[in-house]
Amino acid sequence: MKKNSIIILDFGSQYSQLIARRVREMGVYAEVVPFFENIKNILAKEPKGIILSGGPASVYADGAPTIDKALFDAGIPVLGLCYGMQLMTHLFGGEVARADKQEFGKAELLIDDIDNTLYKNIPNKTRVWMSHGDHITRIAEGFEIIAHTDSCIAAVVNRNKNLYAFQYHPEVTHSEHGAEMLKNFVFNVADCEKNWSMGNYIENTVKEIKEKVGDKKVILGLSGGVDSSVAAALINKAIGKQLTCIFVDTGLLRKDEAKQVMEIYAKNFDMNIKCIDAEERFLSKLAGVSDPESKRKIIGKEFVEVFNEEAKKLQDADFLAQGTIYPDVIESVSVKGPSATIKSHHNVGGLPEDLKFELLEPLRELFKDEVRQVGRKLGIPDYMVDRHPFPGPGLGIRILGEVSKEKADILREADAIFIEELRKADLYNKVSQAFVVLLPVKSVGVMGDERTYEYTAVLRSANTIDFMTATWSHLPFEFLEKVSNRILNEVKGINRLTYDISSKPPATIEWE
Ligand code: XMP
Repeated sequence: MKKNSIIILDFGSQYSQLIARRVREMGVYAEVVPFFENIKNILAKEPKGIILSGGPASVYADGAPTIDKALFDAGIPVLGLCYGMQLMTHLFGGEVARADKQEFGKAELLIDDIDNTLYKNIPNKTRVWMSHGDHITRIAEGFEIIAHTDSCIAAVVNRNKNLYAFQYHPEVTHSEHGAEMLKNFVFNVADCEKNWSMGNYIENTVKEIKEKVGDKKVILGLSGGVDSSVAAALINKAIGKQLTCIFVDTGLLRKDEAKQVMEIYAKNFDMNIKCIDAEERFLSKLAGVSDPESKRKIIGKEFVEVFNEEAKKLQDADFLAQGTIYPDVIESVSVKGPSATIKSHHNVGGLPEDLKFELLEPLRELFKDEVRQVGRKLGIPDYMVDRHPFPGPGLGIRILGEVSKEKADILREADAIFIEELRKADLYNKVSQAFVVLLPVKSVGVMGDERTYEYTAVLRSANTIDFMTATWSHLPFEFLEKVSNRILNEVKGINRLTYDISSKPPATIEWE
């Protein structure tokens, strides 16, 4: 299945993953590889086409990312985008220079060579998305201009070598015919076939898991989140009860979460699942601790300990399965280097140190939307598959300051109401992540004839594509009013509710 792929060489563009997703949506496997990957390794993958991504650098800057020019002699068609176009031009002896002013936004593309394969079925005037500071001032020898805008050379081709380049970004939806241009490259230039589908993926992966695992045993830490659930269902399809899932109830889960997860699996899958009630352990370790980073570390450490203890009981397990997905894999080798640790993210299922497991990561190649498709095909209910992300440390980082069972119970009730109302109003799938936060602040209120002195809670709802930046959701006032009425009337312990209108940056989505 793989030997029909497009490789995206990543020069640090925010769109590199998007290019890969666009290609996969066409039914062709695409992989993102850092620009510094050895050329032998790239060619060993036998790609049918290579796309050079954009990137923030200038080709003349010190240490600007570059590639071995031999890549252009391998007989594989290459499409350079933005920085990719500038680099190609630079390496072939053309000239790139700082534009008078940075071009950002939509531009009118005028196609000069309407017969070019890349422009098949595309009108000779169309709008494309530009985002660049440098531009081409002299094209390299052997290249021809095939499109321009009123301010730049927008596309070039080297017919002999089968090299193409766009100054604009066909991968973003603002480029009106961008998807068709990419399709033309993938199918009509690189000659790929459509064979990447989630049905195929399941079939092949089930076969691979069977071969790899044989008659051995596998354990998996189930978090209730999408990735670990889909990984569990896929492995279960391959090896049935040779898989044991461990679900740790930390006491910091959402309302009825442990019960729901167990019910869903009991109903849909014939699976070994162990639910460990560890609420007391977690809460006693957290008692008296209010620093956010300390809380995260305690929760992470305790989780690994509970998981290890259970894993040790299953003496004969050889494999540890994890729901690692493709963006985790790419980000760990990103050209940008490890992104600054703003909060210590510790995901469920860190490899137990003293247990010698082999890793099994059946979703390593999939983007989140593909993981969801696989989940649906395997029969996981939509309700689970479309669930908003939930952080590993759970309510531990949504109860600001010291955590207690009393506070966790109050928060669970309020959060359940917010989510229930979002679903009822058909808003749940329109926002990326929504939840309630409990503040360690009490204020005075009045209920009947009595004065109250209770907690303040916050509704948080964010819209985002990649969770790196986010805006607050513009939920209707009438909706907020309804949620407010319900929470303040139904949840004992909260007498004041606010709505978080902070974007990320400078805020983050979670409060701790
Ligand atoms: P922030 O708060 O950094 O969150 O804007 C971005 C996304 O990451 C989630 N998040 C976590 N996920 N373990 C996780 O598995 C963690 O420790 C963690 N901290 C934040 C957060 O819910 C949001 O989706």
